[in-house]
Amino acid sequence: MNTYRSYKNLPSLAGICSMDDAMKPGLSVEECVRRLKRYHYVFKRLHQIFNNRITAEPIYELKMTYSLHAYYCAEHVAALRKRVGEMREPPLGLDATPHPALELFCDEIVAAPSTEELILGVYEKALPALKAALEKHVADTHPLADHPSVRVCRFALMEVAEMLQVGAACARSLVDDRLRQHAQPWLALLDDCLAAAGGLEGASSAALVPAMPVHQHSTQPYEYDPVPRRDERFPDPYNMGVNAEVFLYDAQYPPEAKTLMMFYKRLREIDVPEMLASIIAQTAGKPWDYYRDLARQLWDEARHAMMGEVGFVHLKIDWPKQVMVNFTWSLALNTQLKPIERHAVLYFIEQGLMAKTGKRFEWEVGQASHNRLSALFQDYDWADEVLHAKIGRDWYLKEFRDAKTAVQYGDECWSKVLLDWNAWRERGQTQHRNWWPDVYAAACQTWKIPPDPRVLAYNTTYETVRADLKDLPASG
Ligand SMILES: [Fe+2]
Ligand SMILES: [Fe+2]
Repeated sequence: MNTYRSYKNLPSLAGICSMDDAMKPGLSVEECVRRLKRYHYVFKRLHQIFNNRITAEPIYELKMTYSLHAYYCAEHVAALRKRVGEMREPPLGLDATPHPALELFCDEIVAAPSTEELILGVYEKALPALKAALEKHVADTHPLADHPSVRVCRFALMEVAEMLQVGAACARSLVDDRLRQHAQPWLALLDDCLAAAGGLEGASSAALVPAMPVHQHSTQPYEYDPVPRRDERFPDPYNMGVNAEVFLYDAQYPPEAKTLMMFYKRLREIDVPEMLASIIAQTAGKPWDYYRDLARQLWDEARHAMMGEVGFVHLKIDWPKQVMVNFTWSLALNTQLKPIERHAVLYFIEQGLMAKTGKRFEWEVGQASHNRLSALFQDYDWADEVLHAKIGRDWYLKEFRDAKTAVQYGDECWSKVLLDWNAWRERGQTQHRNWWPDVYAAACQTWKIPPDPRVLAYNTTYETVRADLKDLPASG
């Protein structure tokens, strides 16, 4: 029997486990690394799955959720890579596929033909398997000797739990019994994949491992869909009838009304995750920090969109009916430019936002208005933008001789994008309806003030002025 006592009965072993637990054997470094590489692989593929479905997923709430979950996964990939690198492991072999059945498992999910099947595959198969594997790691490994891995697993488990909870709520809203029944053979295939891989962590004995299942959805190589889609709350996605920037930078208009334009600008940022996801999906071979940083920026832009949504809800404005949120920017960039050109446009726009007329100005407008939410959101929006400028310097700028050339290239790339304001109208895709007076009038009702006739009369479109206030040649 163990009669060992700590000094004054203080917690031994820094409180991480009992002496008895610390005397049990755990996983060897080799086995630990082998398992960590599997979690790493699945997190990496989950990042890809979430990221690559953002653009073409029509449902706004899911776009936002995928943006967050892609970011969580990217962070856990980074943490696992770092941990594996600490374990006498060079060459790391982190880009190898740990088991063909795990690869098939992920290939099937990324190719899920419907939103509902994707949700079932990710939130009812992949993430529960990952949760079980991480919990098993914490249970199997030595709590003292492998404490750094325990910590990585524990942090990952917190966010896996959150993802599972949100995913379950999504499934309750979207997947009925009939859909679930229909997906059953495919979900069984996913189970078979995990079984063939010896479980996600691969700890099952090889003798019991069944044969490789056959492809269902992934018979053809998966292709990313770059065309943004929106749900029915975006009834006029080509509408470029209200130029937010011209209004915002015009000194004759009051700050309260400008907060509406800023909420619109924020909500319209749905198009930034749609576009950034395309850069991430179509740019191969970068260091993981590149994908992690871009995933972070993507999530920030999703947050900005949701801040706009909150702003409208707070003012009791029915945004789907009253605010015409377009997707023309992500549509044009994703279908007309190469990934590096899209990044160039983003960098050009974002470095412009650091100037006097940019994020500081928006924050000052928020401060000057009586809208505390607007001031708060612009405060963080500005802080995020400083980070995004750094991400641009770290990853985009590096591709160029000097900063000037990089900025110029961004301007050129944006100029060559064809945003055919008149053609959309002629083809009947939009009337560029001026929705501004109605929104402003609705806000005035909430504010209990009479509308200012000058503000009400605002009627400037994007026909000849770009969002950076650059004049455009009037299109034919
Ligand atoms: Fe933003
Ligand atoms: Fe940004």
